[in-house]
Amino acid sequence: MKPALPLLAALVLTVGGCSESGLSPSAERGRQVYLAQCTACHNMDPRQAGSVGPPVKGSSRELLEAKILRGDYPPGYTPKRPTKVMAPLPAVAPDIAALADYLR
Ligand code: HEC
Repeated sequence: MKPALPLLAALVLTVGGCSESGLSPSAERGRQVYLAQCTACHNMDPRQAGSVGPPVKGSSRELLEAKILRGDYPPGYTPKRPTKVMAPLPAVAPDIAALADYLR
């Protein structure tokens, strides 16, 4: 039974290391998805305009859902840009809640 203890300690250290950014686990997941899927066009810092896309800090979950799943906007929302450059990214659907946590 003895060898189990160092293993457990290593696990605790690994898990603890994830929170160094100060984000909740969900927001941290959202950050990873954002960096992987969105920063080709949007800025690494979501408060700034990117090479192609506008700032997205503060985007609501409704807005993210509409834009990412349908390439659309929630009813009554005034888009920051009149263009339709961003194609829907349905593969990101399971992570929209995490993205919303990160961008809120
Ligand atoms: C191919 C480049 C590209 C990628 C990849 C991309 N976007 Fe966009 N995004 C844009 C552009 C350009 C706009 C401006 C509207 C348009 O032309 O579609 C935009 C608009 C948006 C808007 C609406 C902003 C507003 O308030 O009007 C949101 C929200 C958004 N993007 C989020 C994301 C997220 C989250 C991801 C990653 C999952 C992502 N985008 C990936 C280019 C991109």
